[in-house]
Amino acid sequence: MAKDFLWWRDGVVYQIYPRSFKDTTGSGIGDLNGIREKLGYLSDLGIDAIWLSPINPSPDVDFGYDVSDYRDVDPKFGTMQDFDDLVQEAGKLGIRIILDLVLNHSSDQHPWFLESKKSRDNPFRDYYIWHDPASKGGPPNNWRAVFGGRGWEWDETTGQYYYHMFYKEQPDVNWRNPKVRAEMLDVFRFWLDRGVKGFRLDVFNVYFKDDRFRSNPTKLLGRRPFDKQIHKYDFNRPELMGVLRDIRETLDRYDEAYAIGETFLCSPKESAAYCGDGLLPACFNFEILEARRDPRVLQRKMIEWEDALGTDKWPVHVLNNHDNRRYATRFGRGEDDARMKMAAAMLLTLRGTPFLYYGEEIGMRDIRVRRKDILDPIGKRYWPVFKGRDGCRAPMQWKNARNAGFSGNDPWLPVHPNYPSRNVQALAGDPESLLNTYKKMLALRKKYQPLIGGDLTFLESGNSNVMAYLRAWEDERMIVALNFSGSEQSVRALKGSVIFSTSREAGRNQGGITTLKGDEALILKVQ
Ligand code: GLC
Repeated sequence: MAKDFLWWRDGVVYQIYPRSFKDTTGSGIGDLNGIREKLGYLSDLGIDAIWLSPINPSPDVDFGYDVSDYRDVDPKFGTMQDFDDLVQEAGKLGIRIILDLVLNHSSDQHPWFLESKKSRDNPFRDYYIWHDPASKGGPPNNWRAVFGGRGWEWDETTGQYYYHMFYKEQPDVNWRNPKVRAEMLDVFRFWLDRGVKGFRLDVFNVYFKDDRFRSNPTKLLGRRPFDKQIHKYDFNRPELMGVLRDIRETLDRYDEAYAIGETFLCSPKESAAYCGDGLLPACFNFEILEARRDPRVLQRKMIEWEDALGTDKWPVHVLNNHDNRRYATRFGRGEDDARMKMAAAMLLTLRGTPFLYYGEEIGMRDIRVRRKDILDPIGKRYWPVFKGRDGCRAPMQWKNARNAGFSGNDPWLPVHPNYPSRNVQALAGDPESLLNTYKKMLALRKKYQPLIGGDLTFLESGNSNVMAYLRAWEDERMIVALNFSGSEQSVRALKGSVIFSTSREAGRNQGGITTLKGDEALILKVQ
């Protein structure tokens, strides 16, 4: 175990999409007891924390990202007792729980909104963003909704519009209202008091909108009308900083409590500005997830992220999540996992906290969903430009049994047809499998401090197919070399002894050069 191990900095986080992990009731939807049942698997894998996509009661217009009660568990996932049991048992195995807090908007079924829309003088009116029509009539400004159409919805009863950045069933709350602010901070305390260790803050950088409701400037390029705006007035408003300080103050009253912000459409610089001392402990940067699989592009993006953060702020790295096509779908060749092994070696040796997404460790591919079967709002609205996010949310593939061992009944989304061979049980039995590569890499991180806390310096490999970097901690140094091509590549000799390779026949040093096999990741310990 690393010296002075700090779980959220030195550990590895595993994201679970609860609907799709393990169903114990036969409802076709995963549940909390299912996650509890699989804690042994997760502990054996070697992760340190689980981030649960939302488990609060929700009408599921956006599958949990529309919350109707911030202080409860949705009955489809289980009871509060099940949740407490999960926290307890996970804790015994050294696994912390991170909850997803969706505080930019609630469901339109949240009691606050049901009250708010009753009348203009309702005490909850100001919990949401209401506005009169523009002077010429129509919506107050040009703001658009991410999920399509205008961001403003007309309410006949009270004669005003309310604002929603996502679906109209997801009205944005009014963070300018001190009562809302107090309520939200209390939500943090409510879950921290139940033993939760951290939070993932859904689209926190849009909590505030311009107080003068100015229209966004527009631009020519963009796939959706939403993308054809420069989000000057509905994103990244300066008032946000005060709330981040309040959140941090709330967290700091608890031991090692954590929050990571989902920086929605942010540059690395913008993301970095939200984390650090007195602000959020960490923020995502999605540029690497979204980048091409090109070592030069990736290296440039990694350096940009490192530079934006400087030495005091800690990076986070992620290749998969519930909003994007899986890495294995984007870059895998058929059922071959060589590229995913290399990606795992990269993700787990960069300087920063790695976030894994359920099924990544077994190379799950996205399912194909026909138009008529699409459940995700984005896919419903934007097909075929965007086919939606159902593909990366398919049931976890546990074994070669009915529904891949996920559920005794028809699952809410179909299981990928490759499950008979691609499943936890099958991959666990093969020492060279992707699953065992993840396990070995996770164990290596625990063993070698440079892989966790070490400084990162990119090395000039002399071969544009190979990315190489040095991780140095005190007098211990390690080198990671990643061959992004499918063929053998040579680089200037990397000095050190090979402690890990993703290839059966590891690359070797000879005559001043090191040879890497196609798709190989090599880790060396410098003597
Ligand atoms: C975030 C979530 C996404 C959700 C959206 C609206 O981007 O990751 O799944 O649809 O916020 O809450």
